[in-house]
Amino acid sequence: MRPQDLKSPYRWADRKPLLEDRVFYVPDYYDNHKELIFPEWKTIFGNDNPVIIEYCTGNGTWLAEKAKDPSKNWVAVEWRFERVRKIWSKMKNYALPNLFIISGEAQTFSREYLPEASIDGVYINFPDPWPKDKHSKNRLFQQPFIEELARTIKPGGTITVVTDDPPYSEQISREMLAHPAWKSDFPSPYYVTEWEGYGTSYFDTLWREKGKVIHYFQFRRQ
Ligand SMILES: C[S@@+](CC[C@H](N)C(=O)[O-])C[C@H]1O[C@@H](n2cnc3c(N)ncnc32)[C@H](O)[C@@H]1O
Repeated sequence: MRPQDLKSPYRWADRKPLLEDRVFYVPDYYDNHKELIFPEWKTIFGNDNPVIIEYCTGNGTWLAEKAKDPSKNWVAVEWRFERVRKIWSKMKNYALPNLFIISGEAQTFSREYLPEASIDGVYINFPDPWPKDKHSKNRLFQQPFIEELARTIKPGGTITVVTDDPPYSEQISREMLAHPAWKSDFPSPYYVTEWEGYGTSYFDTLWREKGKVIHYFQFRRQ
């Protein structure tokens, strides 16, 4: 299957929550999300295995490798449809029944569709750093999203974040440690710069080729 084989399911004016061919579409600028009851993970995956979300999946390189391990269920969340198509094509071509895709915005999906303590872990590889001061308000790692992670991840579950951006790295540790639900698995400065077997993504390869230092964080839900 090619990425372009996934067709956009509706015109913007007709947007609505929709589950089709293992993609759940979360519409933007929409106020009637509750018209669709999001199925339980057991119904989606047909088993009780742990459910791990990768927010900001990009083209799915890292996640498609992880999902070759059938002992876990994986959920990709990506808001750019061109990238959703690339994830979908990998899901089809590698025949990954333990992969499911959310086409939509991370916080909207979490807030509108995820029950409390319903996921076992979250990964976010290279969240957009929004380096300009006037754009930094768009960064994901601020208290509303951190609170959403605390609401949806089970006690003992983890959030793993990877970044190449020093100011964003500082913000991630400061904001996560300011929330009482989270403790770092790593001692100060709360990240490591190498993680054997972690896997690689499109942006990981790009930034390593440019000689950037990568920071890996892991925080555990108390
Ligand atoms: C820098 S890229 C990293 C992609 C991938 N994780 C990687 O490492 O190659 C950030 C990705 O996050 C997506 N993204 C950013 N903010 C998002 C949000 N709030 N909800 C869903 N996706 C988001 C962007 O569209 C983009 O694909």
